[in-house]
Amino acid sequence: METWDAIRARRNIRAFTERPIDPADLDRILEAGRRAPSSTNWQPWDFVAVTERQRLVALSKVFEWARPVAGSAATIALVAPTPADPRRRDWIMYDFGQATMAMMLAATDLGIGSGHSAVIDQALARRLLELPEDRWCVYLVPLGYPADRPLAPIARPNRRPFDDVVHREVW
Ligand SMILES: Cc1cc2nc3c(=O)[nH]c(=O)nc-3n(C[C@H](O)[C@H](O)[C@H](O)COP(=O)(O)O)c2cc1C
Repeated sequence: METWDAIRARRNIRAFTERPIDPADLDRILEAGRRAPSSTNWQPWDFVAVTERQRLVALSKVFEWARPVAGSAATIALVAPTPADPRRRDWIMYDFGQATMAMMLAATDLGIGSGHSAVIDQALARRLLELPEDRWCVYLVPLGYPADRPLAPIARPNRRPFDDVVHREVW
């Protein structure tokens, strides 16, 4: 898929088919995250790729809106060091957003659907993923082939109008 098509085709996928993700494709998605830019290139991330069904089902319980994780072919847990102060937490959220989007576009390019899931029960995530005490799970990215319709550029996305969002020179 062309980059512009992938940007227009990505949408949040919450229901997946049983089809597994080829390990080389999963590695490409992880590599897209690894290549993401970060503040001062500090690369604060570790990625835990989960494919075992039992662990995915258990992981989906970290938040009521994390249910798509249970039926995903794979879920990537984005893990950060516990931030020392609010400023570092802001950097983490920005950098992890960029890594997430890079992974989602790489997935879309392969026809693989992706989503975001926040993590509320950090203790459960830490236990299931065997994270060190000084790490927290920032987000989960469930992946898999879409159960509803394949990914294709969306002509009219559910977004605020272009002219409402874009300001030129000044507000
Ligand atoms: C920071 C962030 C957190 C999100 N958390 C969740 C979540 O916990 N569960 C979920 O189903 N979707 C979650 N989403 C997905 C958004 O609801 C979705 O991206 C938005 O409605 C736009 O839809 P689209 O991605 O299909 O364009 C999250 C998105 C972002 C950016």
